[in-house]
Amino acid sequence: MLEIKAATGDLTGYETPALIVNLFEGVTSPGGATGAVDRALGGVLSGLISDGEITGRMGETTLVHTPSLAYPSFAPSRALVLGLGKSSDFGVESVRRVTAGALRRLEQASVKRAATIVHGAGIGGLDAGESAEAIAEGALLGVYRFEKYKSKGDEGSGGRLESLTLLDVDPAKRLVLEAGIRRGAAYAGAAMAARDMVNEPGNRFPPSRMAEVACSMARAAGVECRVLDRDAVEELGMGAYLGVAAGSDQPPKFIHLSLMGDVGNPSNNLWMIGKGITFDTGGISLKPPGGMSAMKGDMAGGAAVIGAITALASLRPRINVHAVVAATENMPGGSAQRPGDVVKSMSGKYIEVDNTDAEGRLTLADAISYARSNGAERIVDVATLTGAASIALGRGQSAVFGNDDALTEAVIAAGGRRGEAMWRLPLDEASKKQNKSKVADIKNTGGRPAGTITAAHFISEFAGRTPWVHVDIAATSMADSTDGVNPSGATGVLARSLVQLAEDLASG
Ligand code: BES
Ligand code: MN
Ligand code: ZN
Repeated sequence: MLEIKAATGDLTGYETPALIVNLFEGVTSPGGATGAVDRALGGVLSGLISDGEITGRMGETTLVHTPSLAYPSFAPSRALVLGLGKSSDFGVESVRRVTAGALRRLEQASVKRAATIVHGAGIGGLDAGESAEAIAEGALLGVYRFEKYKSKGDEGSGGRLESLTLLDVDPAKRLVLEAGIRRGAAYAGAAMAARDMVNEPGNRFPPSRMAEVACSMARAAGVECRVLDRDAVEELGMGAYLGVAAGSDQPPKFIHLSLMGDVGNPSNNLWMIGKGITFDTGGISLKPPGGMSAMKGDMAGGAAVIGAITALASLRPRINVHAVVAATENMPGGSAQRPGDVVKSMSGKYIEVDNTDAEGRLTLADAISYARSNGAERIVDVATLTGAASIALGRGQSAVFGNDDALTEAVIAAGGRRGEAMWRLPLDEASKKQNKSKVADIKNTGGRPAGTITAAHFISEFAGRTPWVHVDIAATSMADSTDGVNPSGATGVLARSLVQLAEDLASG
């Protein structure tokens, strides 16, 4: 695991295998820290700029080897010049992205230790703490790998970076940098924990394992953990959730974590509900085999809420936070539910199960009723709910819905602050009608048109008048290729946004 620390002192005299500096696009004579490095190198960097090799474009990395014999006044063995892009587009997300890319570049070169200046604290207009937070967050997220089942490690992606030092000349900054690093590590930790769960294969991560992992993470962080098994869930009348679980030999586990940051005000609460299908075959409405393996990640929403609450335990915002995951497999076993079956949800509403592959909304319906019956004042659910989400919005943004504008906007804003884009879709009346059932109160599918919207409409019936936001992450929870802070595979999307949301709500 990458260790991140702060140090203060002279940059050019700092002994390190690699020193990371930066350049904004269009700057021809570097100033600040980069200028100081350029001078110590006798103008090598400004030479490369006038040659056009270094342009400062966003994410550009130029590795300059600086052996001490050739550059006696420069202690680092390498200088890595990072492009920050246009200064008008600059912000914490640029810092996260370029840091992630820079560290992967150093890993390809088998560099084990590096130091970096604190980007943007000068002309970029960020304060040192913010920048340190973004560097730590981007660094940890960017070099994340899931190589648990690769006996020799992931060959081809180079060595592992072991430590990164944030360097500033001003000794008074040290505590600020350290606080920023701790926050960045907490945020990255939320997403990395989620990624670890999503990347696990279905056979190694059944509901019982998800519950074990959730509880052991929770206990280590000081979060309360409760797991309801099949009998307890039956007692509560969760027929929609149990209908999904019926086809599997793996017992369902209903996971409820809580972190009481404002014990005196029980109504100051946020309930985060994550879809937790540990594998989605589709059930009797079986999915085609092509790409079905991706359905090991159908618990990404659940992973996000578990990652978020454990990270919140170290940030301690003044709010009572709950994370709920109705974990189960969706399998086509002999006692599986059939298309056309009618189940009774915890709310009392009867649901016609038109398609057993629309299982997520069934489990969420009961999880939402559980939250409401326990006094939820605000609910945010996160779910890999519909393939249609990627048809509507592509892979770059999650779909968001809500019955409360203020809460919906708060979720979108929190995502914006963490570089997780969301786009709000409407809960229009025409789409709502598509969920009408001829035999029960509601049907779990609405046909082809507006598939993401009809799924949201279904869930909204169970949220009732409780302020509620639904985030469909089916298109964003997995990345095909490495980009920015996301290596290919699970992204851990929404884990960090939820941490931000809880902090934002707590600070009013
Ligand atoms: N887990 C899937 C949605 C999904 C698809 C997630 C692709 C990630 C990537 C969900 O349970 C599902 O099967 N949804 C169906 C709904 C349909 C039957 C109404 C879908 O999207 O096809
Ligand atoms: Mn499904
Ligand atoms: Zn699913």
